[in-house]
Amino acid sequence: MRKKVVVGNWKMNKTVTEAGELVSAILEQLGDCLVGCEVGVAPAFPALTEVGKVIERSDIRLVAQNCHYEDDGAYTGEVSVRMLESLGCAYVIVGHSERRQYFGETNRTVNLRLRKALAEGMQVIMCVGETLEEREGGVTDEVVTEQVKEGLEGVGDLGGVVLAYEPVWAIGTGKTATPEQAEEVHVSIRATIRDMYGDIAAEHLRIQYGGSVKPSNAVELFAMPNIDGGLIGGASLKAEDFVAIVKAAG
Ligand code: PGA
Repeated sequence: MRKKVVVGNWKMNKTVTEAGELVSAILEQLGDCLVGCEVGVAPAFPALTEVGKVIERSDIRLVAQNCHYEDDGAYTGEVSVRMLESLGCAYVIVGHSERRQYFGETNRTVNLRLRKALAEGMQVIMCVGETLEEREGGVTDEVVTEQVKEGLEGVGDLGGVVLAYEPVWAIGTGKTATPEQAEEVHVSIRATIRDMYGDIAAEHLRIQYGGSVKPSNAVELFAMPNIDGGLIGGASLKAEDFVAIVKAAG
């Protein structure tokens, strides 16, 4: 049985003070219901320290939105895995579609980041997903399979890896994939993982769904057998909504 994992991706939102307030409200509203699933929050880099302090004695995981693949050096604007570790991050997200779309990330650079994080002992959430054009062109499976294969190239053990299937057309648009549409892709991703790593690894790998998850659709999405939680954008910025989604995951 896979433990579901629900992570709030706050993207470029919330000042340090606002982030502290949001995570405090989440903690308060969650009370002691952190039993069924794993929960994480991914504030922007400047707020990691503050949010980390607030959740220090809780089960909520601190998650970073990105990392660089070098240890250190002349990479203005980038943040290394060791820096994130020193702030208490348990996970880092790599390959988010906004990184791919606006910041030139490719399967190759996503793979470098993922491998660096794993090598440093940090868990990784790797995002994959097709654009509307790709879906309409009937190449969803092809695109997602390639993202999975190239993103995981050279990775021997999936122990520290979570995948997030996020159809680009569903992110921030209010258009959610139907549970059946999402499940279909999750099944295909799991089959790819089975080919690459065998049955046991495929059974254990957690695959989140992301893209306009809300309290009103979370229950039906999380009820699908291959959807193991969610990566939540917009709805994670409201404590009430995020907590409702966490509760929907059990
Ligand atoms: P959304 O974003 O929930 O606002 O669609 C999801 C994501 O980008 O992870």
